[in-house]
Amino acid sequence: MEAKATAYSNIALVKYWGKRDEALILPTNPSLSMTVDAIFTTTSVRFDESRTSDAFRLDGGPAGQAATRRVTAALDHVRALAGTRVSAAVDSVNSGPTAAGLASSASGFAALVTAAAAALGLELNDTQLSILARRGSGSASRSIHGGFVQWQMGVDANGHDSHGVQVADENHWDIVMIAACVDAGTKDVSSRDGMRRTVDTSPFYRGWLDTVDRDLENVRRGILERDFELLGTAAESNGLKMHATTLAAQPPFTYWLPASLEVMQTVRELRESGVAAYFTMDAGPHVVVLCQPGDAAVVDARLRELPGVKETFVSHPGPRAQATRVGE
Ligand code: PMV
Repeated sequence: MEAKATAYSNIALVKYWGKRDEALILPTNPSLSMTVDAIFTTTSVRFDESRTSDAFRLDGGPAGQAATRRVTAALDHVRALAGTRVSAAVDSVNSGPTAAGLASSASGFAALVTAAAAALGLELNDTQLSILARRGSGSASRSIHGGFVQWQMGVDANGHDSHGVQVADENHWDIVMIAACVDAGTKDVSSRDGMRRTVDTSPFYRGWLDTVDRDLENVRRGILERDFELLGTAAESNGLKMHATTLAAQPPFTYWLPASLEVMQTVRELRESGVAAYFTMDAGPHVVVLCQPGDAAVVDARLRELPGVKETFVSHPGPRAQATRVGE
């Protein structure tokens, strides 16, 4: 009853921003991401009849109570499918620093449910795995698949049609995402709280909903037709609109730091000098820069020169989540 899984994180080109059902984690809009090969989580799950509760170790040490409760809640959904209540020891290691806030919940919950399902001998399809991952963290629904992935929002109240669907696999098109990590400290508004506050109070949220389908269509077409300018322009605009909603929330907030703006400005300068580069940001201060493989070395060097950038992670399209059962 033990298995290990690796899942790769993803960065959204069209953001998931807002829930229509908080308990089931159902989104108010569809989103689309690239699974990234340089940021991943490896998790082992061992179910053990002699345990009285779940234990969760993260990056080599015991995780806190809140994180352990989220792991238990995600495991409960897998246990329900298997018809068991047995507790588990979970050991999870992130490739990059968890505190950097680089979409570690996406790879984390995708790896967790993939390993847990394998450990319990459940033979689930990708849709079932994606739904389980979604219930841990919405963005994790996309990390079950490799390459370019759409989280279709679905219409069912039970969420059975709200899951990741692959748009194109990791061999379809090689583009590069460079995550520029800035000095962050711990973030003060989680993605969960930030999206709730925005949906509830920001008058700009309507504008977000009004334009997100158009952005999705352009990003999809950019990927399928390998049109980098179309993809980059639509993704950058979509990210900026997501962040604009937070400024009009009550109380207002922003994830941007001075160093984030410095990276955005550098990307605009690169573009003016003829290098096709675009940026996007998640619910944190780091900036992810999109470029083509031939420009990656120049873009990465430029980002690393910036005083506010601590480190960079260069990713190409990454593979699907994968599990192996221990002892087989
Ligand atoms: O799944 P969560 O709660 O980590 O939400 C992530 C939301 C964004 O990163 C801001 C956007 C996205 O689609 O990944």
